[in-house]
Amino acid sequence: MLTLETGRSLRQHNSLAIDVKAEFFCRITTVEQLQEAIRYANQHCYPITILGGGTNVVLTKHMAGLVIAIAIPGLRLDEQTDDRRLMTVGAGENWHKLVEITLANRWFGLENLALIPGMAGAAPIQNIGAYGVELKDRFVALKAVDLNSGEVIRMDAADCQFGYRDSIFKHRYRDRFAICDIQLTLSTEAALRIEYPALQSALRETEDITPELVAETVCAIRRSKLPDPEKAPNVGSFFKNPVISSKQAEEIRCKFPALVSYSQPGNEEKLAAGWLIEQCGWKGFRRGNVGVHEHQALVLVNNGGSGLELLELAADISASVKERYGVSLEIEPRVYL
Ligand code: FAD
Ligand code: EPU
Repeated sequence: MLTLETGRSLRQHNSLAIDVKAEFFCRITTVEQLQEAIRYANQHCYPITILGGGTNVVLTKHMAGLVIAIAIPGLRLDEQTDDRRLMTVGAGENWHKLVEITLANRWFGLENLALIPGMAGAAPIQNIGAYGVELKDRFVALKAVDLNSGEVIRMDAADCQFGYRDSIFKHRYRDRFAICDIQLTLSTEAALRIEYPALQSALRETEDITPELVAETVCAIRRSKLPDPEKAPNVGSFFKNPVISSKQAEEIRCKFPALVSYSQPGNEEKLAAGWLIEQCGWKGFRRGNVGVHEHQALVLVNNGGSGLELLELAADISASVKERYGVSLEIEPRVYL
């Protein structure tokens, strides 16, 4: 049975702690409940908003229609071979807990993605990534419900069109599907990925590097840089790292030799947006109830402000980066205007 609430505050449902209300709200734990909620919303012509943990959304006003919080649990081992484990994870499972469970079972491959907040079902939306690994490296397929028809579909990695902080769910299929579960392939043999500079340097004096140690080190680096949303509400990186042509990067480097960038395939470079923002003088900046984190300039923090105040600050930051470096910044979290 579906329980609908009217006018529920979403403050506890977004990591920026923005206090807007949902016209209608429900929390679903099964695919059948999800389909019932979709049917109900469509019968009443209510727009549908899907929420996981709310750690990558910027809410700017009360949400019209039905907000559906996805809380489908479950962890199932589908297949075991000598060195592989194929597993299906319910969309409502906490991502970091999943990483911990896989490590405890010695199923390796998610260790670099430790401590990313949010739910497993949101992981494909922006192809979560950290410390040299992205979801797409371990992803097999997902199951999702069509928000128009209520039909269940399966999509594999090619269907999802994963890119850097990108997937088909940000473009053609934006607001079209609710993901119910994801299927991942993990390995029983450690295949360490420690090439990310901060990780490499943290482990440089260590001889016996294990996946558990990689996860611990990633957690320690993250805790040293990123604010805990419970103490300083945030959505992680507020902007993507801009990817530009190597030619443009070279031109910028001529004027600013300390430019931080990583080479990409196809004559492109990814610039560290945190560096660009810090160089423009924003690190630690405060304006009213919003500001820029003092240890990571890519993270905006909210201390009781509104989504619009954050977006105004973000616009000013973008304008100054554009003026100084000629580079456009793109907002990373989903903005609901
Ligand atoms: P939500 O914020 O609830 O939703 C985000 C978007 O996904 C929304 O558009 C929503 O409609 C959609 N969505 C959510 N669940 C579903 C579903 N089941 N079906 C369909 N659509 C859905 N991200 C990284 O990639 N790497 C990082 O290192 C990282 N670090 C972070 C650090 C901090 C401190 C914070 C606060 C955030 C960080 N993030 C990072 C961003 C965030 O953790 C991820 O984007 C995460 O996947 C969001 O999960 P969520 O459940 O909170 O999604
Ligand atoms: N830097 C600065 N000043 C800053 C921040 C960063 O100069 O204030 C420079 C430093 O040179 C640093 C480099 O930027 O070495 C990279 O910084 P960091 O390792 O912190 O990573 P990032 O590029 O800022 C990205 C992701 C994070 C992810 C980390 C680790 C994006 C938009 N962000 O941040 O993801 O955790 O790498 O892989 O790609 C998120 O998406 O929410 C997120 C936190």
